[in-house]
Amino acid sequence: MKQPVMTQRAEAADVDDICINASGNRPLSEVSRSRRNLLKGGLGLLATHLAAPALLTACVPGMGRHGAPFTDSPRPAIGFTPVPVAQDPDYDRVDVPEGYAAEPFFSWGDPVVNGATPWDSGAGNDWLEQERQSGQNHDGMHYFPFPDAPNEHGLLVINHEYINATLHPEGPTVTEDAQGRKIRPKDEVRKEQAAHGLSIVEVRRDPWGHWERLYPSQYNRRLTATTPMRISGPAAGADAMKTRDDPTGTEVLGTLNNCAMGVTPWGTYLIAEENWKNYFANSDLDDHAQRREHHRFGIAAGPNSHYNYWESADPRFDATPKPDQPHGGYVNEPNRFGWVVEVDPFDPQSQPVKRTAFGRMVREGCTCVQHPDGRLAFYSGEDSRGECIYKFVPEGRFDPDDPRANRDLLDRGTVYVAVYHEDGTGEWRPLVWGEPGLTEADGFASQADVLINLRSAADALGGTPMDRPEWVAVNPFTRDGYVTLTNNVDRGVDPDQPVDAANPRPENHHGQILRWRERDRDPHATRFEWELFLLAGEQPPAGESWKTDHQYGTIEGDIFACPDGLWFDPEGRLWIQTDFSDGKSVYDAMGTNQMLCADPVTREVRRFLTGPSGCEITGVTGTPDGTTLWINVQHPGISYPASDGKTRPRSTTVLITKDDGGVIGT
Ligand code: FEO
Ligand code: CA
Ligand code: CA
Repeated sequence: MKQPVMTQRAEAADVDDICINASGNRPLSEVSRSRRNLLKGGLGLLATHLAAPALLTACVPGMGRHGAPFTDSPRPAIGFTPVPVAQDPDYDRVDVPEGYAAEPFFSWGDPVVNGATPWDSGAGNDWLEQERQSGQNHDGMHYFPFPDAPNEHGLLVINHEYINATLHPEGPTVTEDAQGRKIRPKDEVRKEQAAHGLSIVEVRRDPWGHWERLYPSQYNRRLTATTPMRISGPAAGADAMKTRDDPTGTEVLGTLNNCAMGVTPWGTYLIAEENWKNYFANSDLDDHAQRREHHRFGIAAGPNSHYNYWESADPRFDATPKPDQPHGGYVNEPNRFGWVVEVDPFDPQSQPVKRTAFGRMVREGCTCVQHPDGRLAFYSGEDSRGECIYKFVPEGRFDPDDPRANRDLLDRGTVYVAVYHEDGTGEWRPLVWGEPGLTEADGFASQADVLINLRSAADALGGTPMDRPEWVAVNPFTRDGYVTLTNNVDRGVDPDQPVDAANPRPENHHGQILRWRERDRDPHATRFEWELFLLAGEQPPAGESWKTDHQYGTIEGDIFACPDGLWFDPEGRLWIQTDFSDGKSVYDAMGTNQMLCADPVTREVRRFLTGPSGCEITGVTGTPDGTTLWINVQHPGISYPASDGKTRPRSTTVLITKDDGGVIGT
């Protein structure tokens, strides 16, 4: 996600680019001892541009620092001719290599739930109609096959991350009340809430090989920002989870800002709630300043303009404490977002469950790694400047023969935060209440308190502040984890974010991909080895070292910037999707956003797809046989999928096939 959602592109700052870990925005008491020690020690000296190249030398891919432990994977076949960057600012299509086809498959406004009306490009649809249609801003997604015909029949589950001004034909309406407060029409906010969430769509390949969306279908379903969901795990029922509407702290309405995702071995979908902080307001500035549940995550102090003042139309989003109301009104409502939401797509009657054992964060995704003996771990990053990477390790093991045993596997376990050492090793530090740094004296009252304030817990234990961690992918052959670190212009500028080996470039505009291997490839390990897979950016001119300009990268092959979506297909090809601000001069060479394919052994990168101007490419899934792929074009900045220059742009799932019916990428 990058767009300012309910304002025009030119006006606003990138919503998820906001650095809320900036020292000026944080009480000193919250800056961790370990981060302070980091600054006092050697690393602080490196927080300058001049010092960066010396540090970089120690971690450049191919420098042999770690004895190359990451290349024992089979080499996947990559056989297509790359597409060029798309430099035309009016570029309004999706381009794929010769021999492939890309066609729009599922767009914002398309009917989902039985009884839905078609999308109205002119007058628009009302909120009740939107509740039955596809939401906006398609993001993470997954194809769940039916066992009897896995490559021909399945359920496509698609996140709808947020909303654009295009939701309303004339844009959002904002007026002022007698006191000069900004207010919104209720029905507009209801429509915005209905355009969030998730779509579940039954899909099938017909006898001629064409994919279709089934409508009506008993499986088709929408979840929105108002769908009732159960809260489970250690924070369920905690005082900090109670509101005037839910005195038990166990049921919440809706899910917000669903970005990347995860899948469990037992066939459920995991929603990751990302920038939920952008929907709430606390207008009591003194309370905001002392309430870490609010300020440490960046909830607005005062009216919330991000999504145009939902709090004026729906009191649930006004988190200002109300001492005269039960449980302070909705002061705790923001505590009920930022979790992992487990959804069973095959049971349309099932209630989604927010699993609090994962901890509360601005969560980009939730990627599972599975050991053959059933041990599991789930990786997540927080896509904000200078935030951390985490893993959740369930206490129990996955048992394929006992589905009931897996039902609540995600309610008990341990969350760890990653620490990256300069020597290419790393450790996972457990965020467990009562351990040093996380005691009552340290300001943590219980494990629920640790989980609700996971960022503060990670600060206390010295989690490494990263360059905006986005998606995590796990190599199916080696179990190595890969993470995209999309960019971070504060790196080396903010004293809390000095350059380091894992985040080696100051004012990092282009991002990097880092990979790690758990000790003994054990998902439960607390030690790992890591290295940088590549630094994104332009290639240096011939004869010059990439170190001469910190905008240069180390890509072997086709260049790109700002890696975000990341996925291994079943044959071990690594698919990389980008999210940079095309039109910004620093990205002039990159054209529009794109998807590329990398070989994890040779690190060769080839550009497979370019998207319409102004879009982000995100979300990728396919059939088990690899002959069908779906990707998402999010928030195109131009008429798409219609190229008529008039129709409002629509986020769209795109279907990709190979003309000869072969495996995508070969
Ligand atoms: Fe929603 Fe961090 O991308
Ligand atoms: Ca992004
Ligand atoms: Ca993302």
